[in-house]
Amino acid sequence: MPTSARVESLSDSGLATIPKEYVRPESERDNLGDAFDEATKLDSAGPQVPVVDLAGFDSTDEKERAKCVEALRKAAEDWGVMHIVNHGIAKEVIEKVREVGKAFFDLPVGEKEKYANDQESGDIQGYGSKLANNECGQLEWQDYFFHLIFPEEKTNLALWPKQPAEYTEVTKEFAKQLRVVATKMLSMLSLGLGLESGKLEKELGGMEELLMQMKINYYPKCPQPELALGVEAHTDVSSLTFLLTNMVPGLQLYYGDKWVIAECVPDSLLVHIGDTLEILSNGSYRSILHRSLVNKDRVRISWAVFCEPPKETIVLQPLPELVSEAAPAKFPPRTFKQHIQHKLFKKTEEELALPK
Ligand SMILES: [Fe+2]
Repeated sequence: MPTSARVESLSDSGLATIPKEYVRPESERDNLGDAFDEATKLDSAGPQVPVVDLAGFDSTDEKERAKCVEALRKAAEDWGVMHIVNHGIAKEVIEKVREVGKAFFDLPVGEKEKYANDQESGDIQGYGSKLANNECGQLEWQDYFFHLIFPEEKTNLALWPKQPAEYTEVTKEFAKQLRVVATKMLSMLSLGLGLESGKLEKELGGMEELLMQMKINYYPKCPQPELALGVEAHTDVSSLTFLLTNMVPGLQLYYGDKWVIAECVPDSLLVHIGDTLEILSNGSYRSILHRSLVNKDRVRISWAVFCEPPKETIVLQPLPELVSEAAPAKFPPRTFKQHIQHKLFKKTEEELALPK
């Protein structure tokens, strides 16, 4: 089977067992199972991804605002991931985003191939599936569509889906409204660190330089979900990642030495603190390890929006205000590009260290 085959085509072929490239090694199979089964096992007394209500931050009452900042700070320090409700994005916009994304993926694979990216030559925007990047040739049970959505002047609309016809308009509006939420989150997270509210936004490049890239993840039904992963375990390199889903579970977080599945919370967005904020906050905010499960019965779609600093023009390092003799810098200075390379290199080292 060619490594560029679409997972959707594999799934539609009705195979009963998955090709060996998709079978995860034994070491990754802790709490690996059908996402619906894992969600049923979720223990209400056990740890769960916190929910943060952002409504309080719009209050004129200073105490309410402070309470809201505190709730977010706590979630960012303890989990590094949270559901946010009352985020301010219009419900109709969220619904439309779900509709146009689904409509695009409902097109025949042949139609979607017209947007295929070319990862090897660095054209990462477009329709794709993960390429095997090592000799083990491990693959993920997922196809995706990836493109830049903000700032508008940096987007390349020629690469966006032309079907359905409303895709561009809906996505532009979503990007605009989500950018406001990003600013709000960064303000609150700055205040949570005892900094002035605009600090993190400025450190990340502000309105002009901070990039928002969207990856629509399409996880087809999988006949052996106990052996496969939609996305393998990783931490996000971004500053913040926003995640919207079609309300099918799948996201698992590594918390307290075990994998915990995230519930689907109505009218929420899930937000990850990424490595970039972990670095700037000198480790106060946490970039949590996570992965995606798949399931037998329903297609899962998620919309991940990564808020990233420019690749080379900003040096990321713990903010001087947060570094002292008692709390020395935990991370050396690096650009975003260097951070990504460092991670890839580290991963290779870890892979090399694995017993054969
Ligand atoms: Fe992620």
